[in-house]
Amino acid sequence: MRKTILHSFLILFFFLALSFSATAQRNGQHRPQFHFSPERGWMNDPNGLVYYEGEYHLFYQYYPNATVWGPMHWAHAVSKDLMHWEDLPIALYPDSLGYIFSGSAVVDEFNTTGFQRGKEKPIVAIFTYHNMEYEKAGRKDRESQGIAYSLDKGRTWTKYAHNPVVKNKGDEDFRDPKVFWYAPKKIWCMTLAVHDHAEIYVSKNLKDWKYASAFGKNDGAHGGVWECPDLSRYIASDGKEKWVLMQNLNPGALNGGSGVQYFVGNFDGEKFTNDNPSDQIMWFDHGTDNYAGVTWSGLPANRNIVIGWMSNWVDYAQSVPTVDWRSATTIPRDIKLVKTESGYRLTQLPVKEFKSLVDQSSNLIRNESSLKDSIILQNGKLQHCLNLTFNLSDASPTEVGFKLSNALNEQVVIGFDLKKNQCYVDRTNSGKHEFSTLFSAIHHADYVFGKQITVKALIDVASIELFVDEGKLAMTEIFFPNTNFDKLTLFQQGGSATNVKSELIPIQSIWKK
Ligand code: FRU
Repeated sequence: MRKTILHSFLILFFFLALSFSATAQRNGQHRPQFHFSPERGWMNDPNGLVYYEGEYHLFYQYYPNATVWGPMHWAHAVSKDLMHWEDLPIALYPDSLGYIFSGSAVVDEFNTTGFQRGKEKPIVAIFTYHNMEYEKAGRKDRESQGIAYSLDKGRTWTKYAHNPVVKNKGDEDFRDPKVFWYAPKKIWCMTLAVHDHAEIYVSKNLKDWKYASAFGKNDGAHGGVWECPDLSRYIASDGKEKWVLMQNLNPGALNGGSGVQYFVGNFDGEKFTNDNPSDQIMWFDHGTDNYAGVTWSGLPANRNIVIGWMSNWVDYAQSVPTVDWRSATTIPRDIKLVKTESGYRLTQLPVKEFKSLVDQSSNLIRNESSLKDSIILQNGKLQHCLNLTFNLSDASPTEVGFKLSNALNEQVVIGFDLKKNQCYVDRTNSGKHEFSTLFSAIHHADYVFGKQITVKALIDVASIELFVDEGKLAMTEIFFPNTNFDKLTLFQQGGSATNVKSELIPIQSIWKK
C-alpha cells in the first residue's frame, strides 16, 4: 500500500516538474509569444509547406539534440489557422543517404506516384539528402534529392525505396527542391538551387526527373550561395498570370548576411524568363532577419502565403542568446503581385488570419494627436500590432518614427528619413549584442515616401516586422533586450508637429496556458 502511495506521488511529481519546465520554456527570456518557435532544440528553414484537408503543415529544419545546427531532421507542426501550431512527432530522420536538408511537399491529387492506397491523397515530401561521409571525403556530389510520402495526412512517413530521385552531376551545392504542379502540361516542376543559379527539372510522377533549364547565373545578387528557390504562379493586380522566383542567398543580402531577393517573369513549364534587366536587384525583405522563405503549396490559385526563418544564417543565427531553443519563424504573410509604373512588384502583409490573435480582453490604445506629445505605451507589456498613419502635408518634418525601449535605456529605433528617402531600423543600443560583432547596427532601406506614410508593425518579445504603405516595403529584425521593451514612443525631427494616428492592438500569446 505504502509503495503504491509513494509510486503515485513520484508520478505526480514527475508530471508537475515536466509541466513546470514546459511553462518556463514558453515564458523564458526572449521567447516569442505569437511567432512559432520550437519548444526545444535548433530550428532553421521552414520546409514542406503544404495545405491539405483543412490543415497547414509546417515542417522545418531541426536538430533536437542541441541549440546549434547538426544532423538535420524535418520536424513537424500543423495549424488550422496559420497562427496556433500543434507539434507533431519528427517526420523525417537522417539515414544512410544523409541528413535531411530543405525541400517542399505537395499533395499528389491525381496519384501520379501510384503511392495512394486508401481514400487519403498521398502527401509527397521532396527534400535534399546531404551526405556527410561524402563531404568528409571531399566528394563534390554530396547532395541529391529524395522523396518520402504519407498516406495519413502527414502523420507517418515512408521514404521511397529507390532514393535518390535526382542524382548529383558533381555540383557541390545542389539543393532545396521546391516542387509544384504545372497544370497546362500536367507535369511536376522542381526548382533547385545550384550554387549560383537555379535549375528546373520536370517529372510526370515525382520519381523520374529530367533537367529542363537554368536561370540566374548573371541575374540579380550574387554575394553568396543561392539557396531555397521558390518559383510560384501569381495572378497580378491587373489580372495577368505572372511567375515569381523568390531566391534566397547567403550571404550577400542588402544589409549583410542572408536574405531574399526576387525576380518577376514568365514560365512555360520548362523555362523561367526574367522581365527585368539582369542587373536589377529586388529585395523581398529589407531587414536582416528573414531568410529561407518559401510558399505554401495546395492553396487556391489566387493565394500565395510565405513564411521565413527569422534569423540571419551567417551573421549570428547560431549564437543568439536564447537558452534551450533557437530561432522563430516570421508571421505567415499574404503576398500579392502589384502592377506599378516601374513594373510588377511584390507586396506583403500578415495573413488575414492574424486578426484572430487580437486580444479582446486587453485595451486597444487609439490616439490621434500631434507628434509632440508622443508616449503611446509606458510600463506595458509590448506584444502588439502597431498601426500608424503619419500625415506629412503641413508639417514637413525631416524625419518621423517610433521607438521601443525599457528602463535600462535599451532601445530599437524605427525611423523614416524623409530627406534621404530611407527607412531604417537602429539596434545599436538594443540590449544583448556580444554574441556577434555584426549584430549591433543600423539597417537602411531606400524608399520614396509620399505625403502620408502608413505603417504596420508586429512587435513581439524579440522581433519587429515592419510593413510600410500596405506592405510595399518590409523589414524584419530581431533583438534581445535585457528586460523586455515596455515603452513605445513616437518621434519626429524638424518641421512643426505632424498629425499622426496610432492604434496599438494587443496580441494574444499562441502558447497554451
Ligand atoms: C538554408 C540551408 C539550405 C539547406 C539547409 C540545411 O538555410 O542552408 O540550403 O538545405 O539550410 O539545414
